[in-house]
Amino acid sequence: ATAAPASAPLAVLTENAPVISKEVTVLFGSQTGNSDRLAKKLTKKLEENGFQVTVSAMGSYKSNNLKKVENLLIVVSTQGEGEPPDNAIPFYEFLHSKRAPKLDTLRYSVLALGDTSYEFFCQTGKDFDKRLEELGGKQLTPRVDCDVDFDEAAAEWMNQVLGALSEGSSAQAAGAVSQLATSTEVESEYSRTNPFRAEVLENLNLNGRGSDRETRHVELSLEGSNLQYEPGDSLGVYPENHPRLVDELIEALGWNADELVPAGKNGEERTLREALLRYYEITVLTKPLLTQVAELTSNPELMNLLSAGHEAELRTYLAEHDLLDLVQDFNLKGVSSRALTALLRKIPARLYSIASSLKANPDEVHLTVRTVRYETHGRERYGVCSVQLAERVEAGDTLPVFIQNNPNFKLPESSDTPIIMIGPGTGVAPFRAFLGEREETGAEGKTWLFYGDQHFSTDFLYQVEWQRWLKEGVLTRMDVAFSRDTDQKVYVQHRMLEKSKELYQWLQEGAAVYVCGDEKKMAHDVHAALAAILEQEGGLSPEEASDYLTQMQQQKRYQRDVY
Ligand code: 2AM
Repeated sequence: ATAAPASAPLAVLTENAPVISKEVTVLFGSQTGNSDRLAKKLTKKLEENGFQVTVSAMGSYKSNNLKKVENLLIVVSTQGEGEPPDNAIPFYEFLHSKRAPKLDTLRYSVLALGDTSYEFFCQTGKDFDKRLEELGGKQLTPRVDCDVDFDEAAAEWMNQVLGALSEGSSAQAAGAVSQLATSTEVESEYSRTNPFRAEVLENLNLNGRGSDRETRHVELSLEGSNLQYEPGDSLGVYPENHPRLVDELIEALGWNADELVPAGKNGEERTLREALLRYYEITVLTKPLLTQVAELTSNPELMNLLSAGHEAELRTYLAEHDLLDLVQDFNLKGVSSRALTALLRKIPARLYSIASSLKANPDEVHLTVRTVRYETHGRERYGVCSVQLAERVEAGDTLPVFIQNNPNFKLPESSDTPIIMIGPGTGVAPFRAFLGEREETGAEGKTWLFYGDQHFSTDFLYQVEWQRWLKEGVLTRMDVAFSRDTDQKVYVQHRMLEKSKELYQWLQEGAAVYVCGDEKKMAHDVHAALAAILEQEGGLSPEEASDYLTQMQQQKRYQRDVY
């Protein structure tokens, strides 16, 4: 007799066993792909427990189907000032409009992703929760709001939801069915919660001498990790805090650097210095943190800052200060190290748009990282990860990394589709990946790059590569805007408007538009330029132009990766 292989199907269902399955709809709204990934994980879990799941991005969901839904699970993140992710906006607006259906028979629950360092923490999730209730829905389980380190809270929400859905349903009967399906993809064992230590192969400054800027081109090895990525995906990097800042903090608090404190899962202990370097976030302040510090210390000034009527002051304080400021400004010397560190968040990974194509550079991943240094309140401030890369990382070192899929920034399905890429500054990174991929796969579609930075002579990132691609026809055309070489500033959107006829022509031919880089100013102005081009060349009204762009977004013909 032979033993059954370990991978044998778990259960053999008798054909006539009644399989009463419950239907569940999972909708996600994702910008960086976290909601997307969680929604898929949830779907898998539900299917394993015998539920029939319809899972969809909000952007591609037919809103009319909503009135038939009995069980709705929403996973959604929140953008900067409390807005929904780009592709969730039409669904969000539909639900908040008069056209929204009555949902008296709906049961729902919301998982909200966010960041407590933002004022409108998890606002989009809160809005959905409130609105679904207004429309007649019943909460299946309470909404869960997650901070940047969301894994545990999300897993807990999933368990609660599963428990609530399973109550009174016989869905478990079908439990084994979907376990028979096997995945053919080779999955890497490395992830956000289990990062891979990637060796640094190269670390160069791309800016020329005399530039105001420093931009690091970092090449990392993924060899042995099984990690895969597509152009448009991001790399997560867990950084270390600046040793000088850590030392100053320990000094300002009067702590002993070698004292042990809990820092890690299961109460694992590290020295204070080690914990503040690698485990705790010390450069970003949040309102919950200040509130807890105020409770811990009963500091009257801090309580005052947190009291009603000081909202604007608090907002500015949070935006411009770090933990060392807090300790100095509110004289926290002598606070217990255990008590204070227990209030800190885990240092979150930094996400960078990947600048390489895996097909063109097997086993490698490249990043384009601008060094962030500035001065405020009498002290030099450093971007945690960017300054670490600039000052304290060299070839041979390793960094803990993971791949963050970005389903919202992907090359068109057809390699014949023309693409228009708008990426000033480090926003150009993913377009180096796009062109590397198109070259490697022999794609035929036309490509057009708009690039800009301050000075032609020192800030033209990857100049030689674009020129080679132009010569070889991988890049069809390129327009550049160097903002500080002329009296009048020129930006990428000015170049787009100068070429509005051709650009409109490309849009008519079905070109997909990609924008990467600064969100607040650039992406906003570029959006306005696109609308202006549609009005001017296509004769659309402002409203029609805006609808046209929304439609392009829904069809994934207009994608943004902005920060
Ligand atoms: P500036 O620094 O001279 O203002 C990359 O950072 C490039 O984007 C720089 O040339 C920068 O110009 C430019 N930039 C700044 N604001 C912009 C905006 N609103 N739209 C487009 N580009 C902008």
